[in-house]
Amino acid sequence: MSEYEFRVERLTPANLSDVQALWGQMYSAEEIEQRTRIFHWFALGNPYVSDELPPYYLLVDSDRVVGMHGHAPWPFSLGGRREQGFMCYDDMLSVDYRGKGLGKIMLKGVADLRPELAGALWHNEANNRLYAKADWHDFTDFCPFVKLYDPGPLLRRRLGGALGGLLAGPGRLALSLVDRLRGRARDDGYRLERIDRFGDEFDDFFASVEDQFDAIVVRDSTYLNWKFVDKPFTPYARWAARDADGRLAGYVVFRTFSGEDGSYGQVMDVLADPRSGAFSVLIQKALDEMRAERVGEVRIACTHSGFAGALRGLGFLQSSHVLHFMILHWEGRIEPGWETSARHWYLSYSDGDGDCWTT
Ligand SMILES: CC(C)(COP(=O)(O)OP(=O)(O)OC[C@H]1O[C@@H](n2cnc3c(N)ncnc32)[C@H](O)[C@@H]1OP(=O)(O)O)[C@@H](O)C(=O)NCCC(=O)NCCS
Repeated sequence: MSEYEFRVERLTPANLSDVQALWGQMYSAEEIEQRTRIFHWFALGNPYVSDELPPYYLLVDSDRVVGMHGHAPWPFSLGGRREQGFMCYDDMLSVDYRGKGLGKIMLKGVADLRPELAGALWHNEANNRLYAKADWHDFTDFCPFVKLYDPGPLLRRRLGGALGGLLAGPGRLALSLVDRLRGRARDDGYRLERIDRFGDEFDDFFASVEDQFDAIVVRDSTYLNWKFVDKPFTPYARWAARDADGRLAGYVVFRTFSGEDGSYGQVMDVLADPRSGAFSVLIQKALDEMRAERVGEVRIACTHSGFAGALRGLGFLQSSHVLHFMILHWEGRIEPGWETSARHWYLSYSDGDGDCWTT
């Protein structure tokens, strides 16, 4: 196949059935129904789309749609300067077009059409390799943190059912003892309250802390409500912290879920002023709430070095599992050196489409 037979174009409502046909190659009717709900909320509901077209690009071979690539407008704050960029997700090629270098043609075609800064998180192996071939820059030091309460599932996975099961009880006791000795985060006079919707004061809060982060997605009320309140499934717990004067000092968003081998907690997003103690207070609150639901393990992805220190203080360990974050068209937009390490990017599990597919 020659690359000149292909063109890359924006998805229009007229092509929606072509996209569903692509989904039909991989997903059951039930999964397609779920993807359609996600499409309405996450793609069509993206508050930054200005032309009312779905934020997707297609690879078209003559008249046949053979590939799709989500490329959605997304606001960044780079050194305190706001810039509209894009976040990419949901790549798929028709089965008979895979393994022929066409994914790269699709990504290169979109890159030519959209020269703005783009980021992408949450790749599987094939996608990670594809993006690297299309010249995306890969951060390999973005690794989540884990806090264990019940080592049973881990021990059973590593040592097998019998031995792992035998050691689970003493392991639980030891962890609980260490936790008690470590103590809790000091509350420092912060007051915690549930968030129903993120109001305007979250805009002011973000504006007051954004210059503390080198590169960060703009977490204002528009973004936070879209991602964590208006999602039509997966309810999140949302808490805000206020300081002794009643000023907003940060928020945390989390959820619990059942896995095959146990119950888990995941901190989807958290933001606080790194100069304050609010981060630890918010994480402690999330831990308390999730523990009340008897989770055996809590996960959080967080790149700020100060926050990483606070997590270690609360008993989290950093995993070696890399959550690939990749960027394109960053040259001249970020400070030289910020492409060397994910610690220059404030990233959480919720960045990109991370929390999009969980049901
Ligand atoms: C991702 C995708 C668009 C890439 O298409 P492509 O450009 O034709 O590339 P390939 O399918 O050949 O895969 C790229 C690389 O990943 C490897 N790969 C493919 N499937 C893989 C898998 N399931 N596990 C591990 N590696 C895989 C290929 O061998 C290839 O390796 P190479 O670069 O060393 O040759 C295509 O594989 C696809 O549509 N996959 C299904 C949907 C999907 O998984 N999307 C990503 C969601 S995060």
